[in-house]
Amino acid sequence: MNIAIIGSGGREHALCFKLSESQNVKKIFCIPGNAGTEKIAKNININFNDFKELKKVILKNKIEMVIIGPEKPLVDGIVDYLEKNNILVFGPNKIASQLEGSKTFTKELCKKNNIPSAKFEIFYKSLDAKKFLKKSKYPLVIKADGLASGKGVYICENESSGQTAIDEIFNGKFGKAEKLLIEEFLQGEEMSFFIISDGKTFKTFQTAQDHKRVGEGDTGKNTGGMGAYSPSRLINSDLEKKIINKIIQPTLKSLNNIGCSYKGFLYAGLMIVNNEPYLIEYNVRMGDPECQTIIPRLKTDLFEIILSCCNGSLKNIILEWDSKFSVSIVLCSKGYPDKYQKNIKIDGLENLIHSKDQFIFHAGTNRKNNEIVATGGRVLNFTSLSESFYSCQKESLKLINNLDWNNGFFRKDIGFKVIKK
Ligand code: AMP
Ligand code: GLY
Repeated sequence: MNIAIIGSGGREHALCFKLSESQNVKKIFCIPGNAGTEKIAKNININFNDFKELKKVILKNKIEMVIIGPEKPLVDGIVDYLEKNNILVFGPNKIASQLEGSKTFTKELCKKNNIPSAKFEIFYKSLDAKKFLKKSKYPLVIKADGLASGKGVYICENESSGQTAIDEIFNGKFGKAEKLLIEEFLQGEEMSFFIISDGKTFKTFQTAQDHKRVGEGDTGKNTGGMGAYSPSRLINSDLEKKIINKIIQPTLKSLNNIGCSYKGFLYAGLMIVNNEPYLIEYNVRMGDPECQTIIPRLKTDLFEIILSCCNGSLKNIILEWDSKFSVSIVLCSKGYPDKYQKNIKIDGLENLIHSKDQFIFHAGTNRKNNEIVATGGRVLNFTSLSESFYSCQKESLKLINNLDWNNGFFRKDIGFKVIKK
């Protein structure tokens, strides 16, 4: 089959790599892809948010199945559009994508179905939200409603930082805002929990933990993710049962009740408090960089899994996983998450020697005049599988140090909570 992957990050390169291992995949197209996907797929540089243009490219290249990586096209209804045009597509439709696209949609769904999550209030007016701050306990969490690329969440220690958050959100810092949420602050440890679903059944798709802060020891500004490890140190069969029974199943059932079935990856961002799960947020896709740490552990043919989701036959598939641990470290452009230079050459990448348990996934890279250049803040992911988290980290660090890119920086402590030296 000819297939296409929409997106250009490390997540998409990891998916592309795994799909390329399948005997039943004839040709892969990556739209738009990066310098890494280019080696295993044909990159097509169009704006995938222009659905009509995308359809033309799909038909012209005889693409038979489309896999959607990032959230924006999902929230904008790419699945509904392609399905209407009889194109096989993997991802949730526009209604189901509200789980990520609208925080208030998800919070209301949690409330209605007794899904454990932080207590919350929705505010439409700045004055009302500020009045609420006066009688609140701190810290508390203030969130813009829509997609905000991982931003738009404020942890407020006092009333005055709460007032600033409310002003910034209602003044449109994260796009037009009609409403915001104020939430109780949950104290615990975070975990990313994944499932894959065909709309009728679902299978768990591993756990991971990412490091969102730019600095060592989880300090400094929030980023798209500086690295991840899998599995999460928190998961155990008792906790997994609770997550499925209290969070995942009621969510999918509630979508069914409004006539909507969930097809695609679903990523539950959880806070674990004393072995009890609370939902912080849903994402309607794989995580990035969690995907780059989970996918190398998958032993089953990813193409067969995704095809079975499109055909509604996931129940017939058994997912097998490598028991090794996994750590993925992100190499970033100096200056990220603030200003950084673009189009800086990366020498030596293609000569870097690595073992079969090591993977280099590209994110913000491009090929220009036969050279690889960095085009983004997060540039490359170095993943290692091994018998311990300690050796995973050591191997990934060794590989990054061998590259020795002088415009780059990375965290040396990814996985520090699970690494016992
Ligand atoms: P989000 O963009 O929704 O993932 O939120 C960003 C980060 O804010 C999360 O990864 C959590 O660390 C934190 N966060 C969000 N909501 C809460 C909450 N109710 N309690 C504690 N931390 C939270
Ligand atoms: N790892 C965070 C995200 O994918 O949203």
